[in-house]
Amino acid sequence: MLKNWDNNTWISSKSYIETFNKFMFKQISLNENSKILEIGCARGKILGDLKSKLKLKFKPIGLDPVNHKDKDKRISFQNTDALSFFKKNKQTFDLILIKQTIHFLKMNDIKKLLLLCDKSLNKNGVIFISNLDTYKNELPTFSLMDKKLKSSFKRHQEIFFLISQTFLTVNIRKFEFNVEIPKKKYLDMIKQRYISMLLNFSNKQILDGMKEIDNKYSEVLKFKDKLICFILKK
Ligand SMILES: C[S@@+](CC[C@H](N)C(=O)[O-])C[C@H]1O[C@@H](n2cnc3c(N)ncnc32)[C@H](O)[C@@H]1O
Repeated sequence: MLKNWDNNTWISSKSYIETFNKFMFKQISLNENSKILEIGCARGKILGDLKSKLKLKFKPIGLDPVNHKDKDKRISFQNTDALSFFKKNKQTFDLILIKQTIHFLKMNDIKKLLLLCDKSLNKNGVIFISNLDTYKNELPTFSLMDKKLKSSFKRHQEIFFLISQTFLTVNIRKFEFNVEIPKKKYLDMIKQRYISMLLNFSNKQILDGMKEIDNKYSEVLKFKDKLICFILKK
């Protein structure tokens, strides 16, 4: 499981979270009465910011099978996986957010989850799914990581296909965030296996990869973190 996600990286920065939420506000209409669920919320920072910015009356619900100690206090956290949550859930939502999480599930489970989410939407409710954009991705990589990234893209394409088969109305939007990060810091993120594709690498593969990145890039890395977003409406 991914334990180091958004642990002191650009993804956990105030600027990233605010830029992402502003981007979401442009695509969907939310207000203080909105009921929000995030599947795979990690530390719940995105939801916490939504709670403050929208002055939400109801604490947004975040679920994750990993229970981080330093979770955002503004959210109602449930330590569970997506499908188990829906077995008991009776609530309905105006927004169900699934950001950089859907690829953790098996294809059959994704299909089940999409249908369960659809059933749990209020009128005019929206499911907002985002994942790494496979097109002209700029994440700094070493060769083995690049190979893995390219093969994970195939699965992402299959997921996108499944989404477009399951829903009649699918709006696609792209999100970009300009990252500027010292190479030293990025190397540390690689060491911490900040992204799920690095989880199965051996220690030697990680160390070799870090050497490769050290040789390949200058002292400050500048790139765009790109997401593709699917906005699904009832
Ligand atoms: C890459 S992180 C994304 C976190 C957050 N959505 C964000 O974008 O900042 C993926 C999260 O999904 C969680 N996850 C994995 N499988 C899951 C499942 N079946 N149901 C719910 N969450 C899951 C992981 O524990 C992890 O915290």
